[in-house]
Amino acid sequence: MTEMKPVTEATAVKAPVLPDAQTVTDVKHWTDSLFSFKVSRPASLRFRSGEFVMIGLLGDNGKPLLRAYSIASPSWDEELEFYSIKVQNGPLTSKLQHIQPGDQIILRPKPVGTLVHDALLPGKRLWFFATGTGFAPFASLLREPQTYEDYDEVIITHTCREVAELEYGRQLIESIRQDELLAELIGEGFADKIRYYPTTTREESPKMGRITDLLKDGTVFNDLGIADGITPETDRAMVCGSLAFNHEIKEILEEFGLREGANSEPKEFVVEKAFVG
Ligand SMILES: Cc1cc2nc3c(=O)[nH]c(=O)nc-3n(C[C@H](O)[C@H](O)[C@H](O)COP(=O)(O)OP(=O)(O)OC[C@H]3O[C@@H](n4cnc5c(N)ncnc54)[C@H](O)[C@@H]3O)c2cc1C
Ligand SMILES: NC(=O)c1ccc[n+]([C@@H]2O[C@H](COP(=O)([O-])OP(=O)(O)OC[C@H]3O[C@@H](n4cnc5c(N)ncnc54)[C@H](OP(=O)(O)O)[C@@H]3O)[C@@H](O)[C@H]2O)c1
Repeated sequence: MTEMKPVTEATAVKAPVLPDAQTVTDVKHWTDSLFSFKVSRPASLRFRSGEFVMIGLLGDNGKPLLRAYSIASPSWDEELEFYSIKVQNGPLTSKLQHIQPGDQIILRPKPVGTLVHDALLPGKRLWFFATGTGFAPFASLLREPQTYEDYDEVIITHTCREVAELEYGRQLIESIRQDELLAELIGEGFADKIRYYPTTTREESPKMGRITDLLKDGTVFNDLGIADGITPETDRAMVCGSLAFNHEIKEILEEFGLREGANSEPKEFVVEKAFVG
């Protein structure tokens, strides 16, 4: 027979306490494979717009299951916003996609990343090149005053398979254009600097094709009325997509004469993975 022991404070099973817990305040589902959510911001968290942090949930083994996530909200915001894929058999997002307001997630308050203004030399025109959830860091940078203080023109390209996958970005840019608080913070007319260039690859839309192909054949420059293309004297770029996408854009930018920079050595463009694999 199993020996029965009295339950004392030392032997009682305690409910696991979530380390670095933050509370979910809002969740919005955009498609079957995309959602965005907001969480409370730790009072001590300072970050630069464009950086990423590790977030997650407790795994079945009781240990934190964490993944890298770009912070989609700007550095001055009171809450933190994230824009996420739902990978149906993904260890984290198969669960994370079910969070509701009031739930808690883990957020390690150690922001890092290369998609920051500090990693670029001064220029006139800033390009944000995104595919899929690679839009997230630019959702932050598009609401960052420095973006408009440092550049005359901000071009955001977003390539997705289907039209519905563009919606988060489209609505965000629309809301930026109408945001009176941002206009007060950044300056009246700041949004006139934004040029939005969305494209799809697998569903009919006004502009079809991979941005890489549209850059190579000059379509982007024709569409935007940019006579001199991309030059190292005037243009700066930030890139966020799959490994293959990042690699192709890097080659294209290098052909235009731009060099890859880093926090420690600012140059003309910077790149970050939107996911691994
Ligand atoms: C620097 C960095 C920043 C990131 N920022 C974000 C972000 O802001 N939003 C976000 O959704 N993800 C982001 N990711 C990816 C994220 O870390 C996880 O991979 C993702 O949340 C899926 O986790 P998972 O455990 O469910 O599946 P995982 O085991 O991590 O991934 C399973 C597979 O799903 C695919 N996949 C994973 N993430 C994505 C994605 N975002 N888009 C398309 N396919 C994907 C890949 O093929 C991957 O091999 C980032 C990754 C890095 C390296
Ligand atoms: N999004 C979906 O509808 C969907 C559905 C089922 C499964 N998945 C899985 O989810 C993962 C991510 O899908 P995702 O659509 O978010 O990301 P993705 O496969 O990286 O594609 C996002 C966009 O980037 C384009 N792209 C990909 N590689 C490129 C490159 N080298 N150069 C230029 N453009 C490039 C794609 O064009 P192309 O269309 O030409 O590749 C697509 O328009 C994949 O593993 C996929 O198998 C996604």
